[in-house]
Amino acid sequence: MTNAGRFNNKIAIVTGGASGIGYAIVQRLIKEGAKVVAADLNKDSLENMQKELGSNFLGLEIDVTKEDQVEKLVELTVEQFGGLNYSFNVAGASRPGQIVELSETDWNFTVDLCLKGVFLCIKHQARQMKKQGAGAIVNVASLNAHVPMYAGAAYSSAKAGVEMLTKNAALELARENIRVNALLPGLVESPLTAPLVENKEIKDAYLERIPLGRAAQPDDMTGPALFLASDDAAYVSGASLLVDGAWAVSGYPDLSRWY
Ligand SMILES: NC(=O)c1ccc[n+]([C@@H]2O[C@H](COP(=O)([O-])OP(=O)(O)OC[C@H]3O[C@@H](n4cnc5c(N)ncnc54)[C@H](O)[C@@H]3O)[C@@H](O)[C@H]2O)c1
Repeated sequence: MTNAGRFNNKIAIVTGGASGIGYAIVQRLIKEGAKVVAADLNKDSLENMQKELGSNFLGLEIDVTKEDQVEKLVELTVEQFGGLNYSFNVAGASRPGQIVELSETDWNFTVDLCLKGVFLCIKHQARQMKKQGAGAIVNVASLNAHVPMYAGAAYSSAKAGVEMLTKNAALELARENIRVNALLPGLVESPLTAPLVENKEIKDAYLERIPLGRAAQPDDMTGPALFLASDDAAYVSGASLLVDGAWAVSGYPDLSRWY
């Protein structure tokens, strides 16, 4: 269900917008009237989206772990559409491994992408929003901000960091009229989780713990994400919204038997 016209003439950045949850957020924002810039490394998907979505969309090949590129992302957004009202910081991935085996390189990959990337995005997005006197930022963390995952130390730690970074940003930016919130998805079927959910045994282990009895689709994330950005959430900042089919109340599956 869309809320036609809710974001008419508003301008949004979506990092990780070329796949999964970010892609679904881009599609819904456009349907609700926004002009959207997707920042991603997946050039092919961005090019296809450009053809499909036309002049209200701009796809930019950007690495969110590089400050000069994030700064450029905001500059090009303002140049193309005239400002920045909302940001959805979605880009993320994980290189799993048990702590005793995890290399420094893999730790850095996951933490730089999931945590430093969100810091760099908030920094440059909020600078622009300050100039405009208002804005709203939604950072995608994870249920793993609250619940550890076997072989997921880097990812869970980074996502817990995103949740605290969100609260800190909400504190610092409130007087600038910028709201900052976190979305914490549970299990969402996307290219990121395909290796897990394509293994029936692993998928069943997850589903046993998800009271709503199914994995989410990327579209299940768009309503809550857009709500946090919208005026309906005008008094919501520094919050964490779990969107997990009640999984947090039933505990995480024991994945150790697959290692
Ligand atoms: N899928 C899930 O079950 C799930 C659950 C909780 C949280 N999340 C989080 O949601 C977010 C989106 O996940 P998804 O499932 O849609 O994954 P996805 O793999 O479908 O999409 C992630 C996108 O991020 C992009 N990306 C990766 N590194 C980048 C970089 N350095 N700069 C710019 N873009 C980059 C990828 O190219 C990809 O398009 C991630 O932060 C993920 O941690 C996902």
